[in-house]
Amino acid sequence: MSKGRISTTSNGLHHHQQIISSLNIAKKFLLFSVVALAFLLLYHSSSSSLFFSSNYVNKTSSSNGYTAGNLLHNYNSTANIVSAKGTLPSKEKKKKKQKNKLEKVLEKAAMGDKTVIITALNAAWTEPNSIFDIFLKSFVVGNQTTPLLKHVVVAALDQTAYSRCLKKQLHCYALTTKGVDFSGEALYMSEDYLKITWRKIDFQRTVLEMGYNIIFTDADILWFRQPFAHFYPDADFQIACDHYLYKSTNLDNSPNSGFIYVKSNKRTINFYKFWYNASEAHPGKHDQDVLNMIKFNPFIKDIGLKIRFLDTALFGGFCEPSKDLNFVCTMHANCCIGIDKKMHDLTMALDDWGKYMALNGDERMSKPQTWTVPRMCG
Ligand SMILES: *[C@@H]1O[C@H](CO)[C@@H](O)[C@H](O)[C@H]1NC(C)=O
Ligand SMILES: *[C@@H]1O[C@H](CO)[C@@H](O)[C@H](O)[C@H]1NC(C)=O
Ligand SMILES: *[C@@H]1O[C@H](CO)[C@@H](O)[C@H](O)[C@H]1NC(C)=O
Repeated sequence: MSKGRISTTSNGLHHHQQIISSLNIAKKFLLFSVVALAFLLLYHSSSSSLFFSSNYVNKTSSSNGYTAGNLLHNYNSTANIVSAKGTLPSKEKKKKKQKNKLEKVLEKAAMGDKTVIITALNAAWTEPNSIFDIFLKSFVVGNQTTPLLKHVVVAALDQTAYSRCLKKQLHCYALTTKGVDFSGEALYMSEDYLKITWRKIDFQRTVLEMGYNIIFTDADILWFRQPFAHFYPDADFQIACDHYLYKSTNLDNSPNSGFIYVKSNKRTINFYKFWYNASEAHPGKHDQDVLNMIKFNPFIKDIGLKIRFLDTALFGGFCEPSKDLNFVCTMHANCCIGIDKKMHDLTMALDDWGKYMALNGDERMSKPQTWTVPRMCG
């Protein structure tokens, strides 16, 4: 990808050079273009996502020393990858070490039945007073959800998210990718956004292969009640919906991959491989789009995967808010693009919940209790 972009740019420069040399100021321009090209090469080799991360870096440069450090670190680690090419044994060793690390984290975090709650976060989403804090707060103000926090594993997509996770005393795993900087707010459907979504699917497959069941939750989901009683005991793969229109077994429902309960078994591991593989056949699509494309594929019937869709009355979101807080388990800031909008409406939802919890039992049950959201989302 980045190779393609570099050559496009240098062709452009070449073209300009021809015109300008005919105007006899070639020397000056050549100097400029060499500098520009050098910058571009540096830019691309340091990180494919500098575009977004620079936004974040600028915002925080005054409060910490990450700015230059991050860039240098990324540049150097990319260089390391290039120079380490071909030295497979050490690469294998590193992989093994990573696996051991992950195994330890999962072991510590797992519930009795080997289930872990996984979320994936980057620097932008873990900024103080941002999505991450709202997410954690929901567990605390939810009904009997605080004990679930010790089963949460944060897959940190960059170093900043990793250290912020550690500060919260949660189970943290560095799901960093060498030479790739996922720290910025990845704009919806940008190249980085897509990479992150597929990284999450790949990671879930890895965890399933290690024998752990997963409740995967995006961090823009508020947890208000324990979900377990509402899962289908016979299903392999259960997923929340943007819109819940049909029976839980009907594949025509529109799933949202931000909330998934998946059991570890041969069927689900096969399915996750198939799902990830399908991304290659459908470039430019995110995991959810691809899931909608493959959900009818005979492969799923062949492997015997049992899929269920979860009702938005329990696992709702801004696309289709649950109608009654008396039943809600989770609330997702779906149908909402941008951290600021998400935070605004999630904060309101927390507020709604606080007011609901302040009512006495009779008041709560006397009529359906509704949301004031979505406001900026939806
Ligand atoms: C990057 O590499 C250069 C040369 O190897 C070294 O001098 C520099 O300290 C490194 N910077 C970081 C941040 O690791
Ligand atoms: C909280 O959970 C307890 C135990 O399940 C239940 O008795 C109580 O009614 C719940 N409160 C609300 C507001 O849902
Ligand atoms: C996924 O792709 C790989 C490589 O193309 C292939 O070997 C494997 O069989 C595929 N797996 C599934 C489940 O489609």
